[in-house]
Amino acid sequence: MQTEYAQRRERLMAQIGKGTALFRSAPMAVMHNDVEYNFRQDSDFFYLTGFNEPEAVAVLAPHHEEHRFVLFVQPKDLEKETWTGYRVGVEAAKEQFGADAVYSIQELDEKLPQYLEKADRIYYRLGRDRSFNDRVLRHWQQLLATYPKKGYGPIALEDPAPVLHAMRQIKSASELERLRKAAEIAVDAHNRARQFAQPGRYEYEVQAEIEHTFRRRGAMGPAYPSIVASGANACVLHYTENTRQMQDGDLLLIDAGCAYDYYNSDITRTFPVNGKFTAEQKAIYEIVLEAQLQAIAQIRPGTPYKQIHDTAVRVIVEGLLALNLLQGDIEEIIKEEKYKPFYMHRTGHWLGLDVHDVGVYQHGDVPHNLEPGQVFTVEPGIYISPYLKPAEGQPEVDPRWHGIGVRIEDDVLVTANGCDILTAGVPKSIADLEA
Ligand code: GLY
Ligand code: MN
Ligand code: MN
Repeated sequence: MQTEYAQRRERLMAQIGKGTALFRSAPMAVMHNDVEYNFRQDSDFFYLTGFNEPEAVAVLAPHHEEHRFVLFVQPKDLEKETWTGYRVGVEAAKEQFGADAVYSIQELDEKLPQYLEKADRIYYRLGRDRSFNDRVLRHWQQLLATYPKKGYGPIALEDPAPVLHAMRQIKSASELERLRKAAEIAVDAHNRARQFAQPGRYEYEVQAEIEHTFRRRGAMGPAYPSIVASGANACVLHYTENTRQMQDGDLLLIDAGCAYDYYNSDITRTFPVNGKFTAEQKAIYEIVLEAQLQAIAQIRPGTPYKQIHDTAVRVIVEGLLALNLLQGDIEEIIKEEKYKPFYMHRTGHWLGLDVHDVGVYQHGDVPHNLEPGQVFTVEPGIYISPYLKPAEGQPEVDPRWHGIGVRIEDDVLVTANGCDILTAGVPKSIADLEA
């Protein structure tokens, strides 16, 4: 795996020429008082280094004569390590992570200038930690001040994301292996949860069943807070309280995925907790399923990414028109987004080291076309909240539809001539869900 990290650094360095790129590890996040969340490395940092500690900086300086890859890390400190866990330390990091030089993070201000001073620009993405941004800017300012005398130095600050995130968008064989494993574990979790769910059980019991499977099978844990939303809770897109007791006649929407070795899955299924759809639930479910199947049928290299969403929207609008939940001209409803009270989110997102993974979806007016190796979710839905406010000129919703929320989400890989549905192991046909 170290070879792959090194290859990624080489690919990035080949594209930044005389620039120097800086990457900072993720910060520790406070849970409450002096308790912190488990550390999770920043995805760009991890993608380039595989190094999994906080308080670190990675420098890529392709033009530097000796040190093209430099790490700043927390030094060994036995007393601190007794509390917070072992650190790789300066000595071992060089060997283990293939750096040309490793320093203590405490030496950052002293050592950094030698890697910046001959660069023509600094590649750094302004982050949430403003004090660290300021630190980078101060170094830059000092070098700008000496530019007239020296005649060289960085004269621009540039975001590395367009280059790096285009790389991250196409998954390698080893990344796909981990994405497939994350998908496989989440498939297992969803299938167990569906067997377990029944009227009288609480949403949190289903959540526990899902997350038990994640950890038991070696996942790091949920990829995001699991959504176990019964009845009208399904109409709240990010419902995560998971406290309600499920009732006979409810639909249950489960949106849950796991992180396996840093790579994520993201699956949603919606099914009747008593094993039988009502007529209204079935009518809505059929539309969402058709939207998802037709959207997935578009996926192959060359398809504009936007076409996936446009396809799903058209099927949803056709379906809602047929049920009289929308009225009027289909083209006008689509153009004026009058379907949005029912379907207010996009049909998917890139998936990888981040659940909402990096990478562009559109280049201004020019579409972003799908390429083999891209992985993304396809997740249309219809949500008929009891509080739904119809778009202007649209009819009020008959209360028999109230509280129905359906989303169906799969993870797909673009292949040479179509796609591979990584999460196909969770049933979604009405016949399977009622069996
Ligand atoms: N669960 C987050 C999403 O589906 O995008
Ligand atoms: Mn999801
Ligand atoms: Mn998703």
